Parts: sequence; C-alpha cells; structure tokens
Amino acid sequence: MDDKALLIELQPEAERLLNRHLESFDEWYPHAMVPWERAERLQKDGFAYGTATLPEGVESALLVNLLTEDNLPWYTRTISRMFGGDSAWGTWAQRWTAEEGKHSIVMRDYMLVSGLVDPQHLEDCRMVQVSSAIVPEPPTAADGMCYVAVQELATRISHRNTGTMLNDKAGYDVMMKLSTDENRHHLFYRDLVSKFLELDASACVEALERQIVNFAMPGVGIPGFAEHSKAIAAAGIYDFAIHHERIIMPLVFRQWKVDQLEGLTANGEKARESLMRHISRVGKVAQRQADRRAAAAEEEAKAS
Ligand SMILES: [Fe+2]
Ligand SMILES: [Fe+2]
Repeated sequence: MDDKALLIELQPEAERLLNRHLESFDEWYPHAMVPWERAERLQKDGFAYGTATLPEGVESALLVNLLTEDNLPWYTRTISRMFGGDSAWGTWAQRWTAEEGKHSIVMRDYMLVSGLVDPQHLEDCRMVQVSSAIVPEPPTAADGMCYVAVQELATRISHRNTGTMLNDKAGYDVMMKLSTDENRHHLFYRDLVSKFLELDASACVEALERQIVNFAMPGVGIPGFAEHSKAIAAAGIYDFAIHHERIIMPLVFRQWKVDQLEGLTANGEKARESLMRHISRVGKVAQRQADRRAAAAEEEAKAS
C-alpha cells in the first residue's frame, strides 16, 4: 500500500481519533500558570538571569525542551507534507500546531520570570535553530506516524522527569501540563499505528523497524545539542534505560504486540527480526547503564 492509499484507508480512524482528542481537551491558558510575582524579585536583583542553581542536566533539559517547542514551524511543515492539508489529516495538523504553540509560550515565560535562563543566550540559540529548520524528516507518511508515536511519548516522559527534578511547584505544574498534552498527541498516533497494523501489518512493521532502529530525539539543530543530550542522560531525564523500558518495550510488545503478529510477508518478517535484535541490544546497553548508575549511587552512599 503506498502512502496515498494508506492515508485514504486510515482517514476514518484519523477522524475518530481527532474527535476523541478534541473531546478530551481541557482548555488551559499559559499565562495562568506563570508565577509572575517572581519578576519583581528578578528586577530587584538587577535581572541576574541564570543564577538559580539547577543541576546541569535539568538546565540542559529545559533549554532543549523549549528550543524544540520553538522549532514548531518546521514540524508543522513536515507533518503537513506527510499527511496533506485535507480532511481530518489537515484539521489534526492545524489543531496539533495550535496546542504545541502553548508549550513554548508557557515554558519561556516560566523560565524567564524564574531567572532560569539567560534570555540573550536563549534567543541566540533559538535564532540558530529555527534558521536551520532542522527537524526529523521521515521519508513517508507510514514512517512519519511511527516516528511521532514514539517521539510524543518520549517527549511526555522527558517533560515529566524535567518537572520532577526542578524542585519547584510552579515549574512542576507547567511541565506536567505539557506532559499531559504530549500524551494526548501520543495517543492519537499510537492508535493510528494500531489501525495501520490491522490494515497492512508487514508495511507497518517495516516502517516501525526503520523508525525505531534509527530513532533520535529532535534537537540536532540546537547549539551544543550533543553535550546537552549527555547531560540530560546523566541526570536520568532521558536515557537508554528510559527509552527501552518506558517507551519501546510497552509500545512494541504491550500495545502493538509486534511479536505476536501472524502472516507477515518475507520483508515484514525480516523487519520484525531486525527490530527484535535491536530491542534486545538496546536492552543490554540499558541494563549496563542501570548497573553502572546503581554502583555509583552505592559508592556515593558509602562515602557520605
Ligand atoms: Fe510540545
Ligand atoms: Fe506533542
């Protein structure tokens, strides 16, 4: 089934999921979540941004999360290219864009009034990133829905973990709100992929294999992205173990039951085998990472 046929076949399901998505929406306002009273303190301190002491990985996560949300125009372009602007597909892309827009608004205001980031540095990074227009570009709509199903869940978890590590009720509430939205986006794509599996299991497994084996979080165009990613992983906000245990395993085995699919074509079977090998490799890396972290924590506990 080519992309065009797939989108036509999936359209009724996209419409159903879009309606479910709209019904589950609980209107919220970015300005109402921002602790504006902190601006007064910031002014008294002579706008000394960046003096709040956040762990390195949490600072990186805030910056990368916000800049990724700032890059929204190019995600919208990619999604519109993949799904087109008609029918439920177009309505979804527009609605999703409007919802994602709230995320950068609320994060920026929260971070600025709380003095968590140097606004000039943030703006310099935003200019570099948005001017580069670099976003993941899945080759087909089939690949695109598989990628975003994984990515929206990964973003949900990353936002949630960042919020927990902020040690700030206002910041926690902001990041939880974002996390809830990302989950609703994830559910749209997750269930779309389930329908895709019903329609053409082999094509879907092939797309899942390509997208999961080569999966990377967005953010490549952000200055210092590799260093930020390392810091984010070291802080336990998003790393191999989280990717494996909380994203890939539940999706592939519990949700999509890829291991139990029957009647795959030769190519579909080959893709499934490759996907299973990849998952088991990542599982081993994740286990080693978790063991190292546990050993380090034990050493630290002994030393203190
Ligand atoms: Fe978002
Ligand atoms: Fe999202």
